[in-house]
Amino acid sequence: MTTMKSIAEMTKVALRKDLTPGTSKAVEAGGQKILLVYAGGDYFALDNRCSGCGGELQDARVSVGMLSCARCPSMYYYRHGGVKRAPAAEPLKAYQLRYDSEAIYVGPEKGIKIKEHKVVTKETPIKW
Ligand code: FES
Repeated sequence: MTTMKSIAEMTKVALRKDLTPGTSKAVEAGGQKILLVYAGGDYFALDNRCSGCGGELQDARVSVGMLSCARCPSMYYYRHGGVKRAPAAEPLKAYQLRYDSEAIYVGPEKGIKIKEHKVVTKETPIKW
């Protein structure tokens, strides 16, 4: 297993025309597997490894505010990587991202602290 290197600088990882709204794309920067998400009129960069059972997320479904793992029921908030639904347990790392009229650049991990979200499980009582 290759050791994960930190992203020290902004790296050009894709062209804006490579993504259409509501889609994602697997890229690599600094030896890290990253998922670019284009949704809600903006771009987001997250770890491309599901914390549910370790699968890659490039086949995940992008919907309003959410990224749904294609393999199991895990769901994440694509804006910051927080967990919405188990079996995912850990949030996805979110990376700094810049874009210009043509390209998308990814940089070091964002330093934001994710506010704890209530993870929805089968046992969670649903209040109508
Ligand atoms: S790979 Fe299993 S929850 Fe995502």
